[in-house]
Amino acid sequence: MKAATALSCLAGGSLAAAGTINPANKIQKRALQTSDPHYPSPWMNPDADGWAEAYAQARDFVSQLTLPEKVNLTTGVGWQGEQCVGQTGAIPRFGLRSLCMHDAPLGIRGSDYNSAFPSGQTAAATWDRGLMYRRGYAMGKEAKGKGINVLLGPVAGPLGRMPAAGRNWEGFAPDPVLTGVGMSETVKGTQDAGVVACAKHFIGNEQENFRQVGEAQGYGHNISETLSSNIDDKTMHELYLWPFADAVRAGVGSVMCSYQQVNNSYGCQNSKLLNDLLKNELGFQGFVMSDWQAQHTGAASAVAGLDMTMPGDTSFNTGLSFWGTNLTLAVLNGTVPAYRVDDMAMRIMASIFKVSKTTDFDPINFSFWTLDTYGPVHWVAKEGYQEINSHVDVREDHGKLIREIAAKGTVLLKNSGALPLQKPKFVAVIGEDAGGNPNGPNGCSDRGCDDGTLAMGWGSGTANFPYLVTPDAALQARAIEDGSRYESILSNYAHDKTDALVSQANVTAIVFVNADSGEGYINVDGNMGDRKNLTLWKNGDDLVKRVSGACSNTIVVIHSTGPVLLTEWYESPNITAILWAGLPGQESGNSIADVLYGDVNPAARSPFTWGKTRESYGADVLYEPNNGNGAPQQDFSEGVFIDYRYFDKQNSSVIYEFGHGLSYTTFEYSNIRVEKSNAGEYKPTTGSTAAAPTFGNFSTDLKDYLFPKEDFSYIYQYIYPYVNTTDAKKASADPHYGQTAEEFLPPHVLDADAQPLLRSSGGNSPGGNRQLYDIMYTITADITNTGAIVGEEVPQLYVSLGGPEDPKVQLRDFDRMRIDPGETKQFTGRLTRRDLSNWDIEVQDWVVSEHKKTAFVGKSSRKLDLKIELP
Ligand code: NOJ
Repeated sequence: MKAATALSCLAGGSLAAAGTINPANKIQKRALQTSDPHYPSPWMNPDADGWAEAYAQARDFVSQLTLPEKVNLTTGVGWQGEQCVGQTGAIPRFGLRSLCMHDAPLGIRGSDYNSAFPSGQTAAATWDRGLMYRRGYAMGKEAKGKGINVLLGPVAGPLGRMPAAGRNWEGFAPDPVLTGVGMSETVKGTQDAGVVACAKHFIGNEQENFRQVGEAQGYGHNISETLSSNIDDKTMHELYLWPFADAVRAGVGSVMCSYQQVNNSYGCQNSKLLNDLLKNELGFQGFVMSDWQAQHTGAASAVAGLDMTMPGDTSFNTGLSFWGTNLTLAVLNGTVPAYRVDDMAMRIMASIFKVSKTTDFDPINFSFWTLDTYGPVHWVAKEGYQEINSHVDVREDHGKLIREIAAKGTVLLKNSGALPLQKPKFVAVIGEDAGGNPNGPNGCSDRGCDDGTLAMGWGSGTANFPYLVTPDAALQARAIEDGSRYESILSNYAHDKTDALVSQANVTAIVFVNADSGEGYINVDGNMGDRKNLTLWKNGDDLVKRVSGACSNTIVVIHSTGPVLLTEWYESPNITAILWAGLPGQESGNSIADVLYGDVNPAARSPFTWGKTRESYGADVLYEPNNGNGAPQQDFSEGVFIDYRYFDKQNSSVIYEFGHGLSYTTFEYSNIRVEKSNAGEYKPTTGSTAAAPTFGNFSTDLKDYLFPKEDFSYIYQYIYPYVNTTDAKKASADPHYGQTAEEFLPPHVLDADAQPLLRSSGGNSPGGNRQLYDIMYTITADITNTGAIVGEEVPQLYVSLGGPEDPKVQLRDFDRMRIDPGETKQFTGRLTRRDLSNWDIEVQDWVVSEHKKTAFVGKSSRKLDLKIELP
């Protein structure tokens, strides 16, 4: 049979030519960054560490499947086809129910009787691996209890290149090591609880503006292609890929490819990203799923490394798919090699077996589309009326953990002695951010507003609150307990009343302010996901200045999705304390009370820099198209210099640096030591893979793929793997059907013979060459609690790699240690080969440069009192 396309195929590598010129906008013609093609798409390695057993189970399972059954695993049933935000087709013959993919990174989206956890960014601020793991585990357990198979988090894209980017809070920090730890601990926790984690969004998904064409057009931007994040190879490896490598090394079962393009090739059909970096170099054995509507082609995305399309339809509710029927046809006509679909099915089933151990899952007992008990299980088709929400309470005692993480993630930025509070005589709490949303904590869909206290951002990365303890409620309860007088004004605009209240005698004024952001499909007050500016919302700066103008003991609490500009007021002597409480989740009020009153001695550290101006951060969100109506071009020309690395490079002063955070006690650092390990020479990986395996046989007669005639009822808009006619062109609904593979697919796409291993890859070890993780040096230092109370301290280990292109210092390790007053504890930090290497674009591998390397231990990225050269 002649090889032919499966609906709208484009080459999977570079699609770019010269940029379009729009004379009206005086846009400069420029050669666009391109992305190299990398084929064939790698197949699973039967011997990969941690995967061998799952591989064998998947092989036994997949070998029995028909082609349509395999396709069913790869293709979502369409938007609102089932109960979760995305589901695959089922395989009833083997009792495999449809797999449930569901949001998201801080708890279960849109359900009830679930918990609302602190954001990833707030968890990062704890610098506590154990808490990150426990958060992941608790979220995984809740997801499992609702019947979810794949929880769509954690997030390392955005990494946080630009402080205003809307979704930074879903992830961890603009530092690859801190984010890498967050990824790895969350993946392990989630998967230990029996639910597959999904590292997203791979990769370069650093802003919301222009991430999707339709969305951008809705906001009045006439673009025809999404943004291209243009990232060079060195920056890719040393910054953006790093935390994904950690997720792969932790055994993550799935990765979500991103909406936008990288180097002018779409994230979900970019063979450099998926085939080469993720599957060849990192040895990722799980499956790649598309972000929702991020697939743009059929065969091209299949051969570029996409394994599952979500939610399955070309765009929401078209009833058409790039895969489904078209993937069946593409295999039958040879456009997509049969081994590729086998590999997709293998990757999906191996991830499920690795994590869930069984295919006998709990039933899906909620519906994302409604909180009603009864309704149609096939939501858009309005079919299958039954109980779709059992309101299963999965919360256990996670409220305690949430309170602990939020308190331990609250950063004490400034304290001139006002804190901790000790039975204050009179507490006045000011600001809308201390109170509730008049419409209830879930009053805005996907939290798409900034009303009342801010405890999560907006978008798909949200969960419904089971309750929300406001700061007002918690602080009032505490005041009553202490016998304090307490009043609150939960408005930012009650100027006269506020002045009158905070100018009374004996007042401790606590001002709550915030700044919100979220996902691009919701526009809150002109912020289309990304923030318009870095200032506080709702006149927050004026409120702080007003209160501190009248009250000499003003404490400021900030809830925000990232840094805000404190420039105008942070130095005021009347502002006696500043705290960043991040996005604390459902226990917000209790956790801030714990810190303010000293029940929790703060030890959190800022996971980003607090600059003085927006410009001082360097890289910024692109808000206006810069390439006519072609793909807006976002050049990551600063390279690895984002956040503290940029400020350090510019030698510019900051308000609070990355890693900064105070305690109610004091610590001294001394006695840095270094010990060299005998790690041996780095050996590039050699050898090759086996040839591509196939699993089972399939008929090439189209008649065998017609919709079943018996025991089958067609569901409206549902995506199926079958054909409705034996006329392949008609069945495909593709006007281009019939083009030969040679006409549109790049070379090597169909190769099935053994492939050479990349020298930087790990052989059987996922995460890259295993020697990258050899420990080269162990650095120790003594940390003494010199104060009067027990506290926790976060010693941070940085390195200088010494080269002219290297950041002044880069975080490499840290610990959070509990130390009694007067006690000295030893901090131990480790430096791996990767920690000391640079990505060499010529060699295409990590290389330790000749430059002198220095290790530093200290309290923050700019308080590095201890220093030692590496021998
Ligand atoms: C789009 C978001 O980018 C992604 O993070 C989310 O998981 C999906 N929608 C599904 O809701």
